[in-house]
Amino acid sequence: MIKTLEWTDEGVRFIDQTKLPTEEVYVTCRNYEEVADAIRTMIVRGAPAIGVAAAMGVALGVRDSEADHVSELRREFEQICDTLAETRPTAVNLFWAIQRMKDKFEAVSELPVSQIKQALVTEAQRMYVEDIAANEAMGRNGAVLLPSSGSVLTHCNAGALATCGYGTALGVIRAAVESGKKLHVYADETRPFLQGARLTAWELVKDNIPTTLISDNMAGAMMRQRKIGAVIVGADRIAANGDVANKIGTYTVAVLAKEHGIPFYVAAPWSTVDLDTPDGTKIPIEQRASREVTHIAGKQMAPDGVKVENPAFDITPYKYVTAIITERGVAKAPYTESLQNLASVVAV
Ligand code: MRU
Repeated sequence: MIKTLEWTDEGVRFIDQTKLPTEEVYVTCRNYEEVADAIRTMIVRGAPAIGVAAAMGVALGVRDSEADHVSELRREFEQICDTLAETRPTAVNLFWAIQRMKDKFEAVSELPVSQIKQALVTEAQRMYVEDIAANEAMGRNGAVLLPSSGSVLTHCNAGALATCGYGTALGVIRAAVESGKKLHVYADETRPFLQGARLTAWELVKDNIPTTLISDNMAGAMMRQRKIGAVIVGADRIAANGDVANKIGTYTVAVLAKEHGIPFYVAAPWSTVDLDTPDGTKIPIEQRASREVTHIAGKQMAPDGVKVENPAFDITPYKYVTAIITERGVAKAPYTESLQNLASVVAV
């Protein structure tokens, strides 16, 4: 399995996703500031992966603290959490993971400093293992929804690289293929950062899953030609009413899918569901540097001085979503009810 991220004695080791697919390079972040930078610069990206990366960053910062007393350690811990929370705003998994580390700190705060440190490292490692298990469960829950043969379209990268392993949307595709379904994948290239071309295509080719790369503006034509049987994507945050924040361009794909009567599935772990956010209008959308749009692989593609917008995510209203696949089960409309019902389910 691709090692997206890994806890090591030296620090948190990442496959550098900015270098793929041409170079498979690993970087080790030796302190929490370096982990924060890795998240900000997208060495590691994808909602579940940045959540676990942040938890490991917190664990690293605490482990390396020289604090003698719990009160001093807590002050440092809070500052570490704040630094990691400021890296990227949209994926709720980041905040979920940091909150879980805060809850752990409180639960063990009566213990000696050395044991608090160990408990936080163990908690981050547990989140890593749980993420892979959640993806495998999601795969089992979602595989049955995909057609037994034909093509599935995906947007961005919701694969092993976006998680601790196996993937969410790509996990469902992997599980469907493992169960004998004869699937072919259309991967949207996903401008401007090219997660589809660089990462999804790389993963699927490595796995020998038949894959065709298309530029984003080809998806509609493919649907019209009846070449696509289903769409499946990941998510960065799912609001209580079922509105989905995901990579910019997802909304376009969802509207096209509805127009062509094609099911549009979202696969995400429960840590992506944010029942405190009532609907998509309340989800903060990250704006990234204009250079991501004006340049491709360092080469300028647009004139100096042109105005640029670069929202990294968009919101797909729930009415376009056929089902939300989680490790706890599959939610369908009305989502306000079905997501609330899943909230009380304990994942197996
Ligand atoms: O900007 P990115 O690459 O972090 O965005 C990633 C996505 O939008 C993914 O689709 C989402 O995080 C789900 S990953 C399982």
